[in-house]
Amino acid sequence: MSASTAELRTKTLRSLGIVAENQGACSGPAGWRAGGASIASINPADETTLAAVLLANAADLEAVVASATEAAQAWRLVPAPKRGEAIRRLADLLRDNKEALGTLVALENGKIRAEGLGEVQEMIDIADLAVGQSRMLYGKSIPSERPQHRMSEQWHPLGVVGVITAFNFPVAVWAWNAMLAAVCGNAVIWKPSPKTPLTAIAVQHLANRVMQEMQLPNVFGLAICDVKETQALAADPRVALVSFTGSSAVGREIAGIVAARFGKTLLECAGNNALVVAADADLELVVPAALFGAVGTAGQRCTTTRRLIVHRSREAEIVAALKHAYAQVAIGDPTQPGTLMGPLIDATAVKNYERALAEARAAGGILACGGRVRPGPGFWVEPTIVTGVDHAAAVVQRETFAPILYVIPFDTLAQAIALNNGVRQGLSSSIFTRDVRVAEAFVAATGSDCGIANVNLGTSGAEIGGAFGGEKETGGGREAGSDAWQAYMRRQTNTVNWGSSLPLAQGIDFGAPASPKAAR
Ligand code: UN1
Repeated sequence: MSASTAELRTKTLRSLGIVAENQGACSGPAGWRAGGASIASINPADETTLAAVLLANAADLEAVVASATEAAQAWRLVPAPKRGEAIRRLADLLRDNKEALGTLVALENGKIRAEGLGEVQEMIDIADLAVGQSRMLYGKSIPSERPQHRMSEQWHPLGVVGVITAFNFPVAVWAWNAMLAAVCGNAVIWKPSPKTPLTAIAVQHLANRVMQEMQLPNVFGLAICDVKETQALAADPRVALVSFTGSSAVGREIAGIVAARFGKTLLECAGNNALVVAADADLELVVPAALFGAVGTAGQRCTTTRRLIVHRSREAEIVAALKHAYAQVAIGDPTQPGTLMGPLIDATAVKNYERALAEARAAGGILACGGRVRPGPGFWVEPTIVTGVDHAAAVVQRETFAPILYVIPFDTLAQAIALNNGVRQGLSSSIFTRDVRVAEAFVAATGSDCGIANVNLGTSGAEIGGAFGGEKETGGGREAGSDAWQAYMRRQTNTVNWGSSLPLAQGIDFGAPASPKAAR
């Protein structure tokens, strides 16, 4: 580690309140605790320990859930625009700490600093959206079929919302959920990935400041814990909604636990995203989009471009242009300006990369570039393009969190759409074309089956204003903008009779006897 890296790291950790050994459970400003095992947060770029974290054990989790349950009772009585003020304050603190938190994301996750800063910006953006949303938790007014009746619906807080997040967006995904859940009147319990605990602790410190300054109930809680406690959180009937981001395998397990108690889930699981290059695509757009999509975040976004479905007439040209672009990618210290790709998260991720490439070769794949693991310390791989592999091969069909791009040729638009949709996942997709008919066919009901379908931009890097999520094994949930806030509330339909008779719906005549008063 160079002297400048060491200095940056010390400064960053200190400014965000990270100490040598941190407690992993928190239920508010005075509520840090942890009685579980000690884990290390490892910098994936050099395998040094950034700091230690004590996990939340069963008793710690109980304390956090109990505190959140109590907080939710009080918080739901605070007017929503007042709740928005707390989120505005949190957004201010995020603005003040953007540099440090973005750097910590780079240190702990390994994504480049520009992307770490982008992630904090995404937190600020969703906070701003949530502040506005706090004045727009609109219900509908519905015409009643009965005279002198008024029908409407309103939205109430759910209570406690559990937010389970992945290492790859260690802070932004919490923010998508927590900012909206909080303005909607819920208390939030965050269960971050144990691979990125320090970023979560840093954010909890900021949330604690807001709760303390504004004398709020303990609306934001944290439990960094193991599998058993995570399952207990999912099984807890006090947790009304469990929002889960991660693999489809774990999502299926969590969803099963929550469904068994008729709880609500919001699932954002695997993606296997395709970028379709039509015969008339603009090369100047395709290359940077595919590069950012496949190599950005070292291929560890759920929106990462994993399949390049390219018109056969353009395959050789596009692969050559991409090889040229890949050769310029500076791989190295993610905190250094100029670096485009940092390390993978850990040794298991490197093994998965190697395994995927071995499988791809066995399925007829040819490496157009990349394919090597680079020496440590750190978890380094080369961004890789594979051609000639069968689209039906298991390796192409699954999500491998690594910078591997499979190139699949097509001849007709119908084939391209069938390939785009021919995987179990349904998160993001995009097409590059100059033909409005091709573009519209891709986004039509008979086109892409994904939650996100773009034209002339890549599969990743969505703005927070839209609803984010996908279909099939991606889980069906929607987070962030549009009307995603509704997932954090319960809908209540209200019918009020302001007349003096009791007409029944559907015109039913129940032949009710006259009241004793009328009979007299
Ligand atoms: C994720 O990878 O879990 O659209 C989220 C994007 C980012 C979010 C990705 N805004 O790529």
